[in-house]
Amino acid sequence: AVNLTGRSLLTLLEYTPEEISYLLDLSFQVKRESRAKVVHRRFVGKTLAMIFEKRSTRTRLAFETAFAEEGGHPIFLSIQDIQLGAKESVEDTARVLGRMVDAIMFRGFKQETVEALAKYSGVPVYNGLTDVFHPTQVLADLMTVQEVFGRLKGIKLVFMGDGRNNMANSLMIGCAKMGMHYVVCSPKELRPDEKLFKTCLEVAKETGGTIQIEEDPEKAVEGADVIYTDVWASMGEEDKQAERERLLRPYQVNEQLMKKTGKSETIFLHCLPAVKGQEVTFEVIEGKQSKVWDEAENRKHTIKALMIATLL
Ligand code: CP
Ligand code: NVA
Repeated sequence: AVNLTGRSLLTLLEYTPEEISYLLDLSFQVKRESRAKVVHRRFVGKTLAMIFEKRSTRTRLAFETAFAEEGGHPIFLSIQDIQLGAKESVEDTARVLGRMVDAIMFRGFKQETVEALAKYSGVPVYNGLTDVFHPTQVLADLMTVQEVFGRLKGIKLVFMGDGRNNMANSLMIGCAKMGMHYVVCSPKELRPDEKLFKTCLEVAKETGGTIQIEEDPEKAVEGADVIYTDVWASMGEEDKQAERERLLRPYQVNEQLMKKTGKSETIFLHCLPAVKGQEVTFEVIEGKQSKVWDEAENRKHTIKALMIATLL
């Protein structure tokens, strides 16, 4: 049986396919409870510190409402509020937090920060997005795919855009873990990191999944069940906006590209926030194939499930 008590979520590489399936099953249970308005008080007496170096709508709302609904006390901490890295080292902050709270969520720049928080706090730490990974988003994405298709194994998901960003990286891990077919479609300049690509290939070998890098959008989306995209310039990369527009214009998800899958049941996903008219057209994100609002809602169910699994 799967037991995740006390575990952190830092990259998703540290979770087995069985553990991810367990989290997804629990997410569906949590969603049914929410629909039936069943109230549980699973986190009474518990506290969650939520540290934000970057802005957030969904991740903050998901963690904060999920934790509070279960009777816990979430604490929002921006870097205007606490000493983190500047006047006090990450290690010292982590050790103090670990003495006072039951869990920590971190959203920010460096992957090393979230890893140091986990190492020195001794309590479960959840990666709410770094420059490199966004694992809680991928849990919601997998849940949404499973909700639509009834399975994950064998599903083809194509990521269009910046093949080196946190979403491209985390989707590669999630798809490899779950035996899916993942295609990153990006220009040469934005190909995935070679080391992570190799690691994920090893994972995919074991699960029956595949990972492919493809520069040509029309070839990439052939037979796709899911087309996924994300902003062209991520938080912290605002200075790269013009260059990215130039590089990624041919990788926009529009109706013409959606048709090229050759399947009528293909869905569109986006972690959001989206820049309509850039990485995706208004028609596609507002169209029938778009599942982005279910996907956003599923952030909350998957995050609640993650906290139930790791804190109880
Ligand atoms: N998808 C996502 O993480 O959204 P926020 O940046 O609003 O949290
Ligand atoms: N790649 C985006 C994801 C936002 C949820 C960013 O890092 O800004």
